[in-house]
Amino acid sequence: MPKSSNKTPKPSQNGQSPSIESILAEKRLFKPSKKFSEQARISSMAQYEKMYRASIKDPEKFFAKQAEELAWFKKWRKVVEWKAPFAKWFIGGKINAAYNCLDRHLSTPRKNKAAIIWEGENFEQRVLTYAQLHREVSRAANVLKSLGVKTGDRVAIYMGMTPELAIAVLACARIGATHSVIFGGFSAEAIRDRVNDAEAKLIITSDGAYRRGTIVDLKRNVDLALRTEAMMIDGKSQPYGGCPTIEKVLVVKRTGQDIDMFPGRDIWWHEAIKDASHDCPAAELDSEHPLYILYTSGTTGKPKGIVHTTAGYLLGTYLTTKYVFDIRDEDVYWCTADVGWVTGHSYILYGPLSNGATVVMYEGAPTYPAPDRFWDIIERHGVTVFYTAPTAIRAFIRAGNEHPNKHDMSSLRLLGSVGEPINPEAWMWYHTVIGKGKCPIVDTWWQTETGAIMISPIPGAIPTKPGSATLPFFGVEPEVVRKDGTPCKPNEGGYLVIKKPWPSMLRGIYKDPERFEKQYFSEYPGIYFTGDGARRDKNGYFWIMGRVDDVINVSGHRLGTMEVESALVGHEAVAEAAVVGRPDEIKGSALVAFVTLKQGWPPDETLKERLRGHVGSMIGPIAKPDDIRFTDALPKTRSGKIMRRLLRELASTGAVAGDTTTLEDFSVLEKLRAGEEE
Ligand code: WTA
Repeated sequence: MPKSSNKTPKPSQNGQSPSIESILAEKRLFKPSKKFSEQARISSMAQYEKMYRASIKDPEKFFAKQAEELAWFKKWRKVVEWKAPFAKWFIGGKINAAYNCLDRHLSTPRKNKAAIIWEGENFEQRVLTYAQLHREVSRAANVLKSLGVKTGDRVAIYMGMTPELAIAVLACARIGATHSVIFGGFSAEAIRDRVNDAEAKLIITSDGAYRRGTIVDLKRNVDLALRTEAMMIDGKSQPYGGCPTIEKVLVVKRTGQDIDMFPGRDIWWHEAIKDASHDCPAAELDSEHPLYILYTSGTTGKPKGIVHTTAGYLLGTYLTTKYVFDIRDEDVYWCTADVGWVTGHSYILYGPLSNGATVVMYEGAPTYPAPDRFWDIIERHGVTVFYTAPTAIRAFIRAGNEHPNKHDMSSLRLLGSVGEPINPEAWMWYHTVIGKGKCPIVDTWWQTETGAIMISPIPGAIPTKPGSATLPFFGVEPEVVRKDGTPCKPNEGGYLVIKKPWPSMLRGIYKDPERFEKQYFSEYPGIYFTGDGARRDKNGYFWIMGRVDDVINVSGHRLGTMEVESALVGHEAVAEAAVVGRPDEIKGSALVAFVTLKQGWPPDETLKERLRGHVGSMIGPIAKPDDIRFTDALPKTRSGKIMRRLLRELASTGAVAGDTTTLEDFSVLEKLRAGEEE
């Protein structure tokens, strides 16, 4: 049973945070082993501190030097221009991200090294060397060109984790088409919203994707998103606008299932690519050319299109992969994320490939066909660096140690964690059962918006504490502040902000500069507000406490409560809805929806299931509430604001402080607590 959120210190709200008691009690300190440090790129605290100080004192000089490690067509004139909230990096430079991930390795011994070791859910294997990947990407880029895609056009990509996904992304980057990858778990409605917001010209998809032994009908979802005729939604005929900017749909054959192909619109990838030339020079793009848009949940009902540009983003992912993962040519590096999320963009593709690393890419579910699939992959491929999410770690703890213990994972040398705070218990398990006590753990804090890792141990240098992301990366100046912007004292909880611009920072929200400024730079003018709560201990280590806004981290995926609420009220039975997070042992947070129904609708289990299904079809299965509770009224303040704190308390404990234990008492509570959150 989750503990009462009574004790959870502010500003943490959504339940996945370690408690202040556990932080203050955390005395364990793990120094990097001598063996690890000796071979690491940064091998002592003194070296880290020296580089960090240099990066803060003179960021222009520091990043100019680092940027020389990338391949440029034309060198920049000026390193940075900062007119808050708008940043430009490497002004005047010409560069190409795909060129940096591929072409520049071809004149080195990496040419015939494995770039991607791909494993299908059904155990198929494909290996693409850098030379092969380069050829495939070039051919795909020529296909895009032949379909009329030009530099600056947007291309949506909605696929499962196959090599063609990586090829499609890099092909866009090669010709300067801005990619917008849509996670394969999103629904037709979610595709339509994103495609229309980005005004994409082309969608690249596949017939279907394998997931946990079943097939996800990707092409069918695309067909639904593109429909222009009216359709029945919840018993009513709704006009349906489709995606007017889409001209073509390029379809990769993966499952071979039956699908509809619309003549003139839909094209098979394998047919289009058959005769495509593998000669396609990389476009010489401006440093600030938009590399991609990635939609992420925020505090409103509509996801926002985070925009990343080319040079700064590439430098951020390149440097963090080099130093945080301490990547080497002999490594077999595996990040278990999906390319549909930012972690996959930065740490399956751009970061590791620009470093010339060998990347494992796995198509399927972590527990398919058995709970030891991940450990099996590590053993069979000799994975050395492994990067996953706390939610997966907690699920593995529950599945039992016999699964990892069956496998020889002695190849591992470094472990990483991302997506949500890792609780010290999960950290210790990861350290002892998976790392056998010999692998440093890098707990990496960052966001879709930051593009690259911001706070993390440097494994050969910074001693780790279970549950802490430790210290900032080069050039990153975070601080924990109070509501009024003054710095917090050690161990005092506050809001995490970043005081200076950094190369891989988001350049905006697509087509919405006002929302960009309001969302990130208005709370503390000119300073980036992360939306996370944090504390800094007396050693200066950061402890991330979780979101302080209405974003909930479910299994490491960001969901906006407003998004789920607006999906719910879109159902004809629903009058009002409020969605909150409750602590969940595996997922970090689970979604609980409080729903008031319109007259005449029976508050029964069938309706709950229908509502969950409705949210699934409006957003995707990940957004389905774990729990729906019907109520006659939602508790509100006098000014009409929903009292979310109260709902959170209720969701996590089944009761609220005091004598009130049931939802039926809401109206009483409403009166008692009116004004409390005003
Ligand atoms: C959370 C994922 C604690 C945080 C890269 C952030 C973390 C949100 C950590 C971004 C971590 C990510 N420790 N919390 N190591 N990493 N978070 O945009 O709340 O999907 O704001 O990016 O995840 O989620 P996003």
